[in-house]
Amino acid sequence: MSTLRLQLRFLLPLLVAVGIAAMLSLLLMDRMEVNWFARDLALRGALVSDALSDSIDRAVQEPAASGPSLRGVFDRIVRDERLAAIALCAQKGLPLGSSSDYPANLSCAQAQALAVTTPPQWRLPGGRVHVGWYPIQTQAGEPMALVLLHDLSFVERRSRETQLQMMALIVGLGLVIAVITMVVAQMSLRRWMAGARALLRGQGMLAPTMAGAASVETPELAPLAQDLRERLRDLEDEYRRTLGPDESLWTPERLRGLLQRHLRGEDVIVVSNRAPYLHEEVDGEIVVRRPASGLVTALEPVMRACSGTWVAHGSGSADRKTVDAADRVAVPPEDPRYTLRRVWLTREEEQGYYYGFSNEGLWPLCHVAHVRPAFRESDWQQYRAVNQRFAEAIAQEARGEDPVVLVQDYHFALLPAMLRKLLPRATILTFWHIPWPNPESFGICPWRREILQGLLGSSILGFHTRYHCKNFIETVDRYLEARIEHEHSSVTYRGKETLVESYPISIAWPTPEDSAGWPDVPQCRERVRTRLRLPTDRLIAVGVDRFDYTKGIVERINAVERLLEKYPQWVGRFSLVQVAAPTRSSLEEYRGFQERIERLVERINRRFGQRGYVPVLLLAEHHEHDAVNELYRAAEVCVVTSLHDGMNLVAKEFVAARDDEQGVLILSRFAGAARELREALIVNPYHVEETADALHRALTMPAAEQRERMASLRAIVRDHNVYRWASRMLGDAGRWRMRERIEARVERHSAELA
Ligand code: G6P
Repeated sequence: MSTLRLQLRFLLPLLVAVGIAAMLSLLLMDRMEVNWFARDLALRGALVSDALSDSIDRAVQEPAASGPSLRGVFDRIVRDERLAAIALCAQKGLPLGSSSDYPANLSCAQAQALAVTTPPQWRLPGGRVHVGWYPIQTQAGEPMALVLLHDLSFVERRSRETQLQMMALIVGLGLVIAVITMVVAQMSLRRWMAGARALLRGQGMLAPTMAGAASVETPELAPLAQDLRERLRDLEDEYRRTLGPDESLWTPERLRGLLQRHLRGEDVIVVSNRAPYLHEEVDGEIVVRRPASGLVTALEPVMRACSGTWVAHGSGSADRKTVDAADRVAVPPEDPRYTLRRVWLTREEEQGYYYGFSNEGLWPLCHVAHVRPAFRESDWQQYRAVNQRFAEAIAQEARGEDPVVLVQDYHFALLPAMLRKLLPRATILTFWHIPWPNPESFGICPWRREILQGLLGSSILGFHTRYHCKNFIETVDRYLEARIEHEHSSVTYRGKETLVESYPISIAWPTPEDSAGWPDVPQCRERVRTRLRLPTDRLIAVGVDRFDYTKGIVERINAVERLLEKYPQWVGRFSLVQVAAPTRSSLEEYRGFQERIERLVERINRRFGQRGYVPVLLLAEHHEHDAVNELYRAAEVCVVTSLHDGMNLVAKEFVAARDDEQGVLILSRFAGAARELREALIVNPYHVEETADALHRALTMPAAEQRERMASLRAIVRDHNVYRWASRMLGDAGRWRMRERIEARVERHSAELA
């Protein structure tokens, strides 16, 4: 409809212009034709009069019956169809003779006068005639002239024919021009809109191209492109100015400010499987628990700063007792800042979606930690159904049509596309907290295409490292037909673009008030040693993990054994304190793993243990944050030996806890954190010897070197804290929304134009 209007707007003026041009050209044609014929007739008249001069002379000299009579001569001549009548005039006076049809009312004087007018014409009852006056010489010497009246009806006939042909030509031409105009207008409009969209996406004014084909500039759009680019640049400059120099510290207040300015104070909706707070019934009393989860550690402070709603699985035994009628509860319980919306799952749903597809399928698939992924059709069905349930819960929680939704992790790979259907204008930021494997490894998953399609419902998809982004993009390239823009790190699938970016997650850097409340380091050392019944001179390394096969706990304990073998001076002087929170215990793989660790620890403790000396202390229970913090401060070394880890926040928490700038971090090169924390002792956990040597080096590292390394690590974690992580994602979301708004406006204007 709008295209039709656009075309009419083009066509009407065109048709009016063609009409005017046709009229003018017809008038001009008529004029030109008459003039051509007038000249033609004058010439013919002169020839006729020359040819007749002798016969006329004779007829005038011998008016007798023997000679030709003038009328006879003239009547013979006018048989020529183009000559209507002829007369002979003496210079003055009446015609001396004429053909039979010569009008009686046309005197010689009148004819002479008419012959010099333009056009020289006279109207007879049968039509217009051309009047010609041609002086001739006779023997008598008397000046005479012939009056020739040429029939003009044939001229008019020809002129009408020519006009008709001309008219047909102009109308035909007009139609051809109209069709071409319509086609060009259609093509230009499409190119114009695609060009404007491309520009808004920051791709320059490129004509739409096939994947991989060369892009073509559209020069007619250059001025518009320039305007839009300048406007976007201004907005981005303003955005950067309001962010301030990036060296300044990201705090909750600064993050709130960013939300106000760039997301118009929009409420943020977070969705994750694990809830930040669980209510448990213990001995008839309801207690609140914080789960052992890197995801929760990172996101909780962000939600406190941003407010909004966190949608998660209500898995605590007293969760149902603590929500309102809409399944909501305000948290943190001691100082509510945001809403927790709990979603209930049946046992079968939890089994299929959480234990089955998420933790027996995707978890080992993405970690590539030598545990075979298991993919079952029934788990997949539950996974799909639960993703849909959560998408609907988010739609219920959304206050407008375009909320900002932060989707967390591998439990919800299908949710972004499902949510996009329910809320097409939502800004969906998905963050994948675990690694993304290479295309070959990912290809094992029978539903690889569905998973990729689900994730590409996101506006922005985040990973911890560039390496994981690259793996994801290569996987898309391998299994979907999508347009990939490596330069902009974006994937366009079925006309929807997803930005794929790395956002290394972090922790909330402790405030001065937080650290002021901590017991000092010597106190922590003493408390921990007393609690664990260790002598005061015992050096300790600490490991804090969930009981998960990806964390490299076996490799770590093997390294301790090797340390004691290789450097026997540490026997009796060093212990590993391993905190291992039970996790996913209903899975055989996890139960088996826990038992294996317990056996290993027993064996080593038997081998190297003495009276009062236990080389490895296994604390297989969940520890609250304060207790873990005390351990970090009490330890000489922290060991993180993940076989594969998205980021690993234990490494960053240890650094944050050491405000005394002492302590050494041993860090696996296969944890995302190793890309940022370069002053740690980086190890390959599969290489037991290397880790044992790193332990020895850490235990003997001079205080000055420890200080230097720790100060550098602390600066990195402080500056790259979780508020910065959130601000980068939300800032990108703000820009994304601005671009969508401008794009919508451009489309609206284009539609109006049409
Ligand atoms: C990893 C995952 C998180 C998860 C956490 C704890 O860090 O990325 O999504 O919350 O492990 O696992 P759990 O299964 O106990 O929630």
